Amino acid sequence: MKKGVFITIEGGEGAGKSTLIEQLTNIMLQRGKSITTTREPGGIPIAEQIRAVILDRENTAMDARTEALLYAAARRQHLVEKVVPALEKGEFVICDRFVDSSLAYQGYARGLGMDEVWAINQFAIKEVMPDLTIYMDVSPEVGLGRIAQASEREINRLDLEKQSFHEKVREGYMKLLQQNPERIVLVNAENSADLVFADVLSAIDERFAGFFATDVKL
Ligand code: TMP
Repeated sequence: MKKGVFITIEGGEGAGKSTLIEQLTNIMLQRGKSITTTREPGGIPIAEQIRAVILDRENTAMDARTEALLYAAARRQHLVEKVVPALEKGEFVICDRFVDSSLAYQGYARGLGMDEVWAINQFAIKEVMPDLTIYMDVSPEVGLGRIAQASEREINRLDLEKQSFHEKVREGYMKLLQQNPERIVLVNAENSADLVFADVLSAIDERFAGFFATDVKL
């Protein structure tokens, strides 16, 4: 079966994921590649509805396990409806966040345990994992400062967490990097957007000069 390339972009709040994804989309289109860009939680109507529940600032009563399960549920539906069909068509799929977000935010920062959160996510994703994950590293001071200055960005329930939570998220990502040195590449997201883009593009070009083939089964 023909298979595309699955790339996920990770990072704390205000890392600059949206700008990077826009730049990547433009370059891939210029190169004539078929590209799908999407996001988690969301990307399709059912998952966007789940997103609205998770991120609603009114939902202060949300239990940490409920939150983890909702992310996993949104992830499953998004994979089945959008990501896997695009990969099967041989597309380049760029997804803003994926399972590493659940491991860093719910597993590590919320303290549910990375193994426990991995277990529910394995049920959700089966064997579908990214070919490459870009981790955009930014300190919470810089990231949250950027959000405070960007008036068009809506502040969600997780943005309202204390700085110590965002520091733990960053620590969680560092653990994931240590555990997955082949799959996850760190870029310094405190650099200018153009420099970050250049770093990411060379990481992608190094790995995917041509698309490769593997089976994807759900
Ligand atoms: P975004 O602001 O990058 O769109 O992400 C929405 C929020 O959801 C962000 O604070 C990170 C959080 N999140 C998790 O906590 N776990 C997850 O599995 C995902 C996908 C996102």
